[in-house]
Amino acid sequence: MKKNILITGGAGFIGSHVVRLFVNKYPDYNIYNLDKLTYAGNLANLSDIEARPNYTFVKADICDLETMKEVIAENNITGIIHLAAESHVDRSIKDPLVFAQANVMGTLSLLQAAKEVWNGDYSDKIFYHISTDEVYGTLDFDGTFFTEDTKYDPHSPYSASKASSDHFVRAYHDTYGLPVIVTNCSNNYGPYQFPEKLIPLFINNIRHQKPLPVYGKGENVRDWLYVVDHARAIDVIFHRGKNGDTYNIGGFNEWKNIDLIKVIIKTVDKLLGNPEGTSESLITYVTDRAGHDLRYAIDSTKLKNELGWEPSLQFEEGIEKTVKWYLENQEWLDNVTSGEYENYYRKMYNQK
Ligand code: NAD
Ligand code: TYD
Repeated sequence: MKKNILITGGAGFIGSHVVRLFVNKYPDYNIYNLDKLTYAGNLANLSDIEARPNYTFVKADICDLETMKEVIAENNITGIIHLAAESHVDRSIKDPLVFAQANVMGTLSLLQAAKEVWNGDYSDKIFYHISTDEVYGTLDFDGTFFTEDTKYDPHSPYSASKASSDHFVRAYHDTYGLPVIVTNCSNNYGPYQFPEKLIPLFINNIRHQKPLPVYGKGENVRDWLYVVDHARAIDVIFHRGKNGDTYNIGGFNEWKNIDLIKVIIKTVDKLLGNPEGTSESLITYVTDRAGHDLRYAIDSTKLKNELGWEPSLQFEEGIEKTVKWYLENQEWLDNVTSGEYENYYRKMYNQK
């Protein structure tokens, strides 16, 4: 059956991998990538598939209800995979209102548009909302995990805005019967991630021999998943996930920041031909992030048991692939860190 699928935020980091996977794997589907192209959206992320006959780009803001209705109605959209969002915690601390607007009001507009256009005819329809493990709050060093039943306890404006959007998605399911799925994923890494997030920022700074700003003591723990494995999970869940259900996505791959940073330094130095340890002197401990969550760790057993998804890549392989990609795509890095962005960025974080 031919499907018309709307992917929001497809010009961003994770969205571009999802768009690429769907365009390549499903030539019979029509894939509509809707993106506002904020600083984080970059059509160069999709240059390899942009000319494909089953791919269409729509520049629009998800907060624009009328346009969302038009896009869904005119293209007979039956599936929505919603990734568009403001996604960086540090920016949310500086500018929380922007996050409420994009993540809460944007998701709400999209839900309302789907509800109005589908108008109760929900057969073969799905609204799939992509969220984060950060909505669950923080864990101690006690070996526990976030499960699908963990109570929401967001701490940053970013995670609060994502938590709110998750609640609206479930409210549309419970109140109007809208078919929905929500997934909460751990930290992603890989090609095309904007170099404000830890891994690409540090690779780029090592390349330029600039300081590596480690927040606090570097003891916070994150659970890292290769972005293509997240896109594979989204594919499986979009096609086989249960209406109304939630799935956690993660690779049981926890790293203390400082240990991860040392792996990045070692890998970049090796690939640049520097003697081992050369760039360790760039490590600079800086003031901790306000409200910095201590530890994230996802239990994705439900996804494995019910839908058979597992990560395909070991972390060591994933990180080497990622560092290689950034070093081989320095033009991409230079483009997104130059001009307007660089000025904005410097103003926000002048130590970087
Ligand atoms: P990103 O910041 O790289 O990309 C976000 C994209 O959304 C950009 O292309 C941007 O232009 C677009 N966008 C923002 N506001 C918009 C609006 N109002 N209208 C239309 N488009 C808009 O983000 P990402 O890291 O790829 O994250 C994608 C999604 O996955 C987000 O919902 C995020 O919360 C979630 N997520 C991210 C991670 C992670 O580690 N990056 C982990 C779990 C979940
Ligand atoms: P980040 O990539 O911003 O993801 P998130 O905050 O969504 O987990 O940060 C990952 C971890 O790295 C987090 O604990 C904060 C820390 N961090 C630094 O120590 N220095 C930095 O410059 C950045 C961007 C992050």
